[in-house]
Amino acid sequence: MAHTILITGAGNGLGLDLTKKFLELGWQVFAGYHRSAERLKALTPVASGAAGSNLMVVPLDVTKTESIRRAFETVSSATPALDILLNNAGVHLEDKHTPFAELDFTDGHLEKSMAVNAFGPLRVVQQFLPLLEAGEGRQIINISSEAGSIGDCWRKQEFAYCMSKAALNMQTKILHNCLQPHGFRLLAIHPGWMRTDMGGADADIEAEEAAEGIVKLITARDRGARQGQNLDDEPGDGLYCDYQGKPLRW
Ligand SMILES: NC(=O)c1ccc[n+]([C@@H]2O[C@H](COP(=O)([O-])OP(=O)(O)OC[C@H]3O[C@@H](n4cnc5c(N)ncnc54)[C@H](OP(=O)(O)O)[C@@H]3O)[C@@H](O)[C@H]2O)c1
Repeated sequence: MAHTILITGAGNGLGLDLTKKFLELGWQVFAGYHRSAERLKALTPVASGAAGSNLMVVPLDVTKTESIRRAFETVSSATPALDILLNNAGVHLEDKHTPFAELDFTDGHLEKSMAVNAFGPLRVVQQFLPLLEAGEGRQIINISSEAGSIGDCWRKQEFAYCMSKAALNMQTKILHNCLQPHGFRLLAIHPGWMRTDMGGADADIEAEEAAEGIVKLITARDRGARQGQNLDDEPGDGLYCDYQGKPLRW
């Protein structure tokens, strides 16, 4: 049976590149999109597998329980199990240079950042857990950011984004504590500063380079899980790293 993965926020940016890479490997990809599936549909040529298309596009707003429930119904009507959940959807809603004195508590950006970046992945995990429990891969990957590190924090602004990614990191650790005894592997990954809508044109790397590194990390762990290897003795506690696998400080 093909390996199966659900990727959120797959309509553009890193999520789109991750979708392409997993399709190229022959995985069955459930690509959750938010506003538009147009760019995902252009992947049709790389999506053809032995049993038809390996790509299913699924409307999925991670802030809405009803949307996640409908996505679960759609995915579970197509597969009895999911190997991997990759929580990639994210927002960065503030000007990087807005000083603390001008932080706006009235425009909703603080609440929305938490809703998408922190509570969104948690809702998706809860809803999709039965399908993940039925899978062999048992990985939950959260696309975090170095901006979520408290130990290495240097910023004097960007409260909403940094706080939401720090919350996502904490979530990764708590889910690790409760799901690892059931054979799950959790990972929070900083994908690098990428030239996407979020990262902007001046960023360091293309999303494709980040996707390549992330796919390597995930597939190595997937092979390890299937061979019964204990992959938890990695540097640090092995739960928070960059797209090349370099451990990061919480
Ligand atoms: N770019 C960077 O330099 C950088 C650095 C560190 C970490 N990251 C993280 O990497 C991940 C991908 O970022 P990116 O650079 O690819 O950003 P991006 O190009 O802005 O893509 C973000 C994706 O999330 C989706 N999304 C937004 N709100 C959503 C919601 N409520 N429900 C479901 N999906 C939603 C977007 O869909 P729509 O466009 O349709 O709204 C889009 O597909 C994010 O978690 C981000 O925080 C990025």
